[in-house]
Amino acid sequence: MTTKPDLLAVAKLPPFLMEPLQAAFNVHTALDTAPRERVRGIVGSGESKVPAELMAQLPALEIVSIMGVGYDGVDVAAAKARGAMVTHTPDVLNDDVADLALALALSIARRLPQADRYVRAGRWASDGPMPLATKLSGARMGIVGMGRIGQAIAHRAQAFGMSIAYTARNARPALPFTYHPSARELAAASDFLVVITPGGAGTRKLIDAAVLDALGPQGYLVNVARGSVVDEAALIAALQQGRIAGAALDVFENEPNVPEALRALDNVVLVPHIGSATRATRRAMADLARDNLVRHFAGQAPRTPVPECR
Ligand code: 8YV
Repeated sequence: MTTKPDLLAVAKLPPFLMEPLQAAFNVHTALDTAPRERVRGIVGSGESKVPAELMAQLPALEIVSIMGVGYDGVDVAAAKARGAMVTHTPDVLNDDVADLALALALSIARRLPQADRYVRAGRWASDGPMPLATKLSGARMGIVGMGRIGQAIAHRAQAFGMSIAYTARNARPALPFTYHPSARELAAASDFLVVITPGGAGTRKLIDAAVLDALGPQGYLVNVARGSVVDEAALIAALQQGRIAGAALDVFENEPNVPEALRALDNVVLVPHIGSATRATRRAMADLARDNLVRHFAGQAPRTPVPECR
C-alpha cells in the first residue's frame, strides 16, 4: 500500500478543495500538529503567508500550491533555494476580476450603494431625487498593470466607449492602448485609475499621495489588486480632503480589518476581497490548485508554476 503524501494547509480551504485533497493526501491544518519531517506540500490561498521560516521547518517540502493568482505572500526565492516549486492559478479568474473592476467603477461613478441606501432610508420620498452622479461611458480609464486581467478589464472598458491607457514595467506595443511610463503620469491622464498589478515589494505603496493628487478631484481610484499597492493612509487623507472624487476598493492593507476612517466616508464603495468569489471560478481555481499537486506527486510537471519556477 502506498502512503498518501502529507500536506500542510495554511488557509481555510473550501470544501470543494479540501474534500478531494483529503482523498489523495493527508492534509494537516496546523503546523503544531503536523508531522513536520514528512510534510511534502503546502496548500494555501492568494493571501497566505509562506515565509522562509515556515519552509525551513519542513525539510521534505517539494511544492507550494496556491489557490489564487497572487502569490506575494510566498517567499519564492526561499522555496527555490530549498528546491521546492511554487504554483498558482492564473487565467481561470480573469473574467471575474475584470467583471468586478467594471462593477466597482460603475458603482462609485453612479453611486449605486449610496442610491440603494437612499431608497431604503426613505429619502427618495422625503428629500426628492438624488444628486446627479458621474458618467462612466466615454471616460478615460487608466490601468496600472497590463497583464492578463488588465487586458480583460481594458476589453470591457472598450465596450463602454472608454479610452484606455496603462502603465506597466514594460510597454506592450502590440496592444492598442496608450502607454505611460509611470503611475503618476497615467493618473494625470485618467478619470478612473484601476489598479491590477501584482503585490509584493516591487509595487508597495506605488499609489501614493503624489499619484492621487495627479488623479485629482474629479478622479476615481479602483483597486482590485492588493491593498499593499496603495498607501492607505494617503488614500484616506485624499478622500477626506476631496483631493480625489472617490474610491472603490476590493482589497485593503490589513484584511479583514478596514480602517474606521475609510468606513466612515461616503465617497467610497468597499467590498470584502470578492474579485474571484463566484462559485464557478472558485471551483476552477480549486481544481487547478489540486491538479498541480496531484501531477507533481505523480511525477508530472504541474500545469501552472509561477513564472519564477518555469
Ligand atoms: C482570493 C486572490 O482572495 O487570486 C488571488 O490572488 O486574491 C483571490 O482570488 C483567494 O486567493 C482565493 O483563494
